[in-house]
Amino acid sequence: MGTQFTYLVTGANRGIGQAFVEQLLSTPTARVFATARNPEASLDLKRLAEASEGCCHVLQLDISKPDSVKAAAQELAKLVPHGLDCLINNAAILGKFTHALDQDLSDFAHVLQTNVIGTYSVTRALMPLLRKGTGKRIVNISSDAGCLQQNAGFIHQDVPNDAGMAIDYRCSKAALNMMTTCLANQLAQEGFTVLSLHPGFVHSDMGRAAGLGASRSAPGSGPTLSAEDSVQAMLQVLQQVTPKDSGRYIKYNGEAMPW
Ligand SMILES: NC(=O)c1ccc[n+]([C@@H]2O[C@H](COP(=O)([O-])OP(=O)(O)OC[C@H]3O[C@@H](n4cnc5c(N)ncnc54)[C@H](OP(=O)(O)O)[C@@H]3O)[C@@H](O)[C@H]2O)c1
Repeated sequence: MGTQFTYLVTGANRGIGQAFVEQLLSTPTARVFATARNPEASLDLKRLAEASEGCCHVLQLDISKPDSVKAAAQELAKLVPHGLDCLINNAAILGKFTHALDQDLSDFAHVLQTNVIGTYSVTRALMPLLRKGTGKRIVNISSDAGCLQQNAGFIHQDVPNDAGMAIDYRCSKAALNMMTTCLANQLAQEGFTVLSLHPGFVHSDMGRAAGLGASRSAPGSGPTLSAEDSVQAMLQVLQQVTPKDSGRYIKYNGEAMPW
């Protein structure tokens, strides 16, 4: 038990989150807490946990519901009293991918509530366990959709692009990036590594929906990367980073992202 490295992955029942669980479980030292809004319906995840010989546990967690966050944190504290090494904040929603001026306000609030406040509340609830752990890692799965420099770069370029679409999702990921730097500042003296990782444009339910939305403005847009390849590359990045990298925004292949 002493040499195990413990991970918690949110939104682990499909897409990139599930690929994280699968690949972490191929590491002999990993013990993975895979969370899902509806564990009973998460059949692939249940199968992974059953085959894991005790290395994978499925927990219920809806990051947008305070009671669910509190219950998951309490359950985890019983399972890992010596602490959690790495939190992978992966769960998020895309929203409806509308034009910047057509955004429904309650949809906007829902996306921010989930992707920003939800992620923050999970991180805060798990801080006592993360502080006890030796890994001291918080990984926020961000997106290039939250990259201000990239988005602003399209303004005066006369090329088809989707930079005015999905204002809710873009704002949520830009805010998540700010959260990364706030937490990295706050936790630097405690040896934490807090990162924003951009996974690339990935074949998942979200990637396919974003591809369809983007194609309306920029024909031909679509996912280019499998979840497996994205996660394999992100895990390589995670193997290499140290607390000196805390507060960085990094692409899946290790390249630095501009803010
Ligand atoms: N795919 C891409 O091209 C791409 C690009 C850049 C960034 N990302 C980011 O990568 C991460 C994973 O995305 P993905 O492509 O794997 O998306 P996905 O296939 O749509 O999966 C999203 C996951 O988040 C979970 N989730 C949504 N709302 C939740 C909530 N309130 N509480 C708990 N879990 C919730 C979903 O659970 P349910 O099954 O219960 O809905 C699902 O497990 C996200 O942060 C996304 O923003 C993806």
